Amino acid sequence: MDSSLLQLEGKSVLVVGGGQGIGESTAKLLARVGCRVAVADAVQERAERVAAAVANLGQPSTAIVGNVLEEGQARDVVERAEREIGGLDALVTTIGQASFNSILDMTPEQWDHDHRKNLRHFFFTAQAAARSLISRGKSGSMVCITSVGGMQSAPNHASYGAAKAGLINLVRTMAVEWAPHNIRVNAIAPGSITTPRIPATPERVERTQQSLIPAKRLGTGDEVGKAALFLLSDLASYVTGHTLPVDGGWMAAYLLGIPHVPPTGTLDATAGAIRPQ
Ligand SMILES: NC(=O)c1ccc[n+]([C@@H]2O[C@H](COP(=O)([O-])OP(=O)(O)OC[C@H]3O[C@@H](n4cnc5c(N)ncnc54)[C@H](O)[C@@H]3O)[C@@H](O)[C@H]2O)c1
Repeated sequence: MDSSLLQLEGKSVLVVGGGQGIGESTAKLLARVGCRVAVADAVQERAERVAAAVANLGQPSTAIVGNVLEEGQARDVVERAEREIGGLDALVTTIGQASFNSILDMTPEQWDHDHRKNLRHFFFTAQAAARSLISRGKSGSMVCITSVGGMQSAPNHASYGAAKAGLINLVRTMAVEWAPHNIRVNAIAPGSITTPRIPATPERVERTQQSLIPAKRLGTGDEVGKAALFLLSDLASYVTGHTLPVDGGWMAAYLLGIPHVPPTGTLDATAGAIRPQ
């Protein structure tokens, strides 16, 4: 495809959570179509590794370390990105994590954890980015990562599902409030994706093959990143407030039944495994 159709060349994009997984894939794809990329992550080594990969692809880049769950740090991350890659035209945020438990057994800590991890970062970084764009009279585009878990009921997954559904609504409201400023805001709802945090274990691959997910396979970070590129690009110039499932047909199959019930337990972020309660 003629990548000039995307109109992304030379744009400055901040990818929050860009140090790994879907964020890393998105940062590298953005670099391949000519974007300057600021890679923000709570883990320094991750941010630096992906920023170096962007630089290897020939694009200006910077690594920014910060915890964007804190409003002040989210603002700093946005300001640093603007300074270090020469402006800010677009924002991608990918942060999110799930607790797995039934509603009856769910603890206040699990509920709060999922709402903090899945909602706060986008609210504060998008708010800071929009304030900056509007004050400079610039148009812009933003994409966050929600989940199919925010579009359907989510047994053993209620706090994550509710937070991800909140993100879908937040995106709609931002899209409406900021449309007069030519700022588009969209979300992607991935299905089952292979990432370093949730790898393609044999058990997960088999569960996917036996599920009602029509594609019968896990998706990749690149497949989500390509959808982010589309939503950020000029190809989506009339798309705002939308949530795009990237799910191998999961949401379509959901009309037939529940394709995939996660086991109870807490997701172990380091091992990518489900720890039973
Ligand atoms: N992998 C899947 O199957 C799947 C399915 C549906 C939705 N999702 C969603 O996709 C998104 C990305 O998933 P992933 O597996 O690529 O994530 P990941 O955990 O692999 O990567 C997220 C990155 O964000 C960084 N980060 C975490 N908290 C941060 C903070 N407070 N401030 C700054 N950086 C922080 C982490 O260090 C990490 O590098 C998540 O929102 C997740 O809920 C994933």
